Amino acid sequence: MSRWTLSEIAWDQLEPAKIDPDMLAVIKTAALVEYNSHDYGHYLNTIFKEDQEFQSKVNVWVKEERQHGQALEKWAMLADPEFDFEKRFQTFTDMFSLKTGCEDSIRGSQNGELIARCIVETGTSSYYTALADACEEPVLKLICQKIAADEFCHFKLFYKYLQQRAEKEDLSRFRRICLALGRIKETDDDELAMAFYAANASPCETYSRKIHGGASLKRASRYYKRKHTQRAAYMTAKASAVAPQSFVGALRERLIYAYVRWNAVAKADLSLSRGTRSL
Ligand SMILES: [Fe+2]
Ligand SMILES: [Fe+2]
Repeated sequence: MSRWTLSEIAWDQLEPAKIDPDMLAVIKTAALVEYNSHDYGHYLNTIFKEDQEFQSKVNVWVKEERQHGQALEKWAMLADPEFDFEKRFQTFTDMFSLKTGCEDSIRGSQNGELIARCIVETGTSSYYTALADACEEPVLKLICQKIAADEFCHFKLFYKYLQQRAEKEDLSRFRRICLALGRIKETDDDELAMAFYAANASPCETYSRKIHGGASLKRASRYYKRKHTQRAAYMTAKASAVAPQSFVGALRERLIYAYVRWNAVAKADLSLSRGTRSL
């Protein structure tokens, strides 16, 4: 059962004058990705097919991720009445789909998969916290706070299972670090770029991973402050069995902060000057 529902949100308190167009663009993007999470649920249930307890947790996790998509969708449609979520979601799923047919984790093992999930939840937890802190629009601020809390619980869920399974499959620290870094690098892949394109592009625009991925990362990164990357570094250090205060842990924190700043400054930008409200 979810920790909160859409009916708890005071939707009529939305303040249009406080909507940041760049934040609207990344929220539309996040709505598509979150709403598509059932594919990941199917994939995880296949990989952990012998563990019914874990599967039942995954099914709750899918419901919560879908609710994130629904909340962001509803806010985006109130903020921009011309935003056609169904049409945009169809465009996204026509372009992007997970390979859900595999029997084994693409990370090489079940624990490798759990580390990757910890990294994803670290990213979403820190991202929604950064958005909530930067957001001036009160309804979206509350939604982001609630989602950030869920994402932290998701991290704890996958981390707990990783700890429980450590004796069954003991991955070396080096392997865990490589898996974590590999999953962080995947933020550059087509999923977010295609979601940004599907959510925001005009019909005549052609998809480009470089342009739309860059535009997505640039906007998302600019909301991060040092405290958010410190928190993300602490969580990724735990997932990869590195002491956060160690030399490796401190170096990782600096690298994550540098990566986020680089994305915010150096990535190619894409003007949404046609108006994010009517794309
Ligand atoms: Fe989520
Ligand atoms: Fe999550």
